[in-house]
Amino acid sequence: MLEHLDRLPPDPILGVMTAFRADTDPRKVDLGVGVFRDDAGETPIMRAVREAEQELIARQKTKTYVAAVGNAGFNEAMAQLVLGQGHAALASGRLRTIQAPGGCGALRLGAELIRAAAPDAVVHVSTPTWANHVPLLSNCGLKLERYPYFNSATGGVAFDAMLGALDRLPPRSVVLLHASCHNPTGADLDDAQWRELLALVRRRSLLPFIDIAYQGLGRGVAEDAYGPRLFCAELPEVLVAVSCSKNFGLYRERTGALHVLSATPAAADAAISQLMRIARGLYSMPPDHGAAIVHGILTGERLRSSWEGELDAMRLRIQQLRAAALKALAAACRAKDFGYIARQRGMFSYLGVDLQAVRELRERHQVSMMDDSRINLAGLRMDNIECFAQAVAKVAG
Ligand SMILES: Cc1ncc(COP(=O)(O)O)c(C=O)c1O
Repeated sequence: MLEHLDRLPPDPILGVMTAFRADTDPRKVDLGVGVFRDDAGETPIMRAVREAEQELIARQKTKTYVAAVGNAGFNEAMAQLVLGQGHAALASGRLRTIQAPGGCGALRLGAELIRAAAPDAVVHVSTPTWANHVPLLSNCGLKLERYPYFNSATGGVAFDAMLGALDRLPPRSVVLLHASCHNPTGADLDDAQWRELLALVRRRSLLPFIDIAYQGLGRGVAEDAYGPRLFCAELPEVLVAVSCSKNFGLYRERTGALHVLSATPAAADAAISQLMRIARGLYSMPPDHGAAIVHGILTGERLRSSWEGELDAMRLRIQQLRAAALKALAAACRAKDFGYIARQRGMFSYLGVDLQAVRELRERHQVSMMDDSRINLAGLRMDNIECFAQAVAKVAG
C-alpha cells in the first residue's frame, strides 16, 4: 500500500537546516533557521529555564497525566503574560486557554476550532507570511487567501493596501495577524496602525487570529503585545496563538498556548469544550515539561526577573546586530539602501537579493539563508558581520 507514496521535497526551512549542519566549513554562517543565537553562535538554555527545570525535577513526584487543557497554572500565567496583569479580558469570564504543543500546535488548534464553528470560513494571511502558516491553517480543510502586507520598496508595511483589501472582506472572515517581529519581513504595525486596524475589524465583523511567537524580542514584552492587548480589550472574539519557543528558548520542549476570547462566558465554555475534544483527537494531551518550566519562571519572583533580564539582553543583541549589519552593508554595497534593516523588528529581514545571489552566498561564501533571501540576524556574530557584508557585496553589490 505504501509503495505508491510520492517522495516529497524537504520542508524549505528544515531543508536549509539539514544542509547547514552537514557543512563542515568552520567559517559557515547560518542565517537560515529562525532560532536565537548568542555571539558564540550557540542557542543556549536560558539560566532561568535551567534553574526552573532543576527545581521541577527536585519537586516532581509523578509523571501521571495532567489534564486535557494542560497545566492550568501555566495557562493562567500565559494569559497574564500576553494580556498584561489587570487586563479586562482576564476578569471578564470570556477568556479560555488551552496549552498546546508549541505555537504550531496552538495555530492548528485555532484552525480546527474555526472549522468546527464555520466550516466555510476563509483565513486571510499576509503576503508574505511564515511558510508553515499555510499547512497549519489549511490542512484541516479551511480555505486560505492572502492580503497585501509588505512594501518591498520601503521595507515597511503596505498599510493602505492591507486596509483596502481587508475592507473588502465579507463578515466572519478570519484574519491572521503577527503580533510583532513579523516573520519573514520584520515589518510590524505601529500602535496607531493597530488602532486603525481595530476599527476596520470591528466595522467589518472580522475574526482576528493573532500569532505571537516573539514576545519580548522586538520592542519589549508589553510593546510586542500591543495588538493582542488592544484587540482583546475591545472586541467580542479574538484568537491568540502563543509560542514559548523563542522567548523562553524552549524550542524542542514544544510549549505554547491558545487563548480564545468569546462573546459571552457560555460561549467561552463551549469553545474550550470543543478545543479539548479537538486536542484529544489529535494528540490527546500536550507535553508537560516546558509548560511546567514556564509556570515556575513566571510565578517565581526571582526566576521571573532573571528571565526578564535575559530576554532584555537577547532583544538588545538583536537590535545591536541590526545596527551593525546596516553599517557594514551600507559601507560594502553602496548601490543598495539597507536602512530598513534598522527600522524592522525581531530576528528576520529580507536581504533583498535574487535566488542566484542566495545560491552563490551559500555555495561560495558559506552564508546560508532561505531561498527568498530571508535572513535571521541573530545568526550573525559581531566578528563576522564585516565578512558577511563583503560577501553580499560580491554577489549583489
Ligand atoms: C511566526 C511564527 N509563528 C509560530 C511559530 C511557532 O513555533 P513553535 O511551534 O516552535 O512554538 C513560529 C516559529 O518559528 C513562527 O515563526
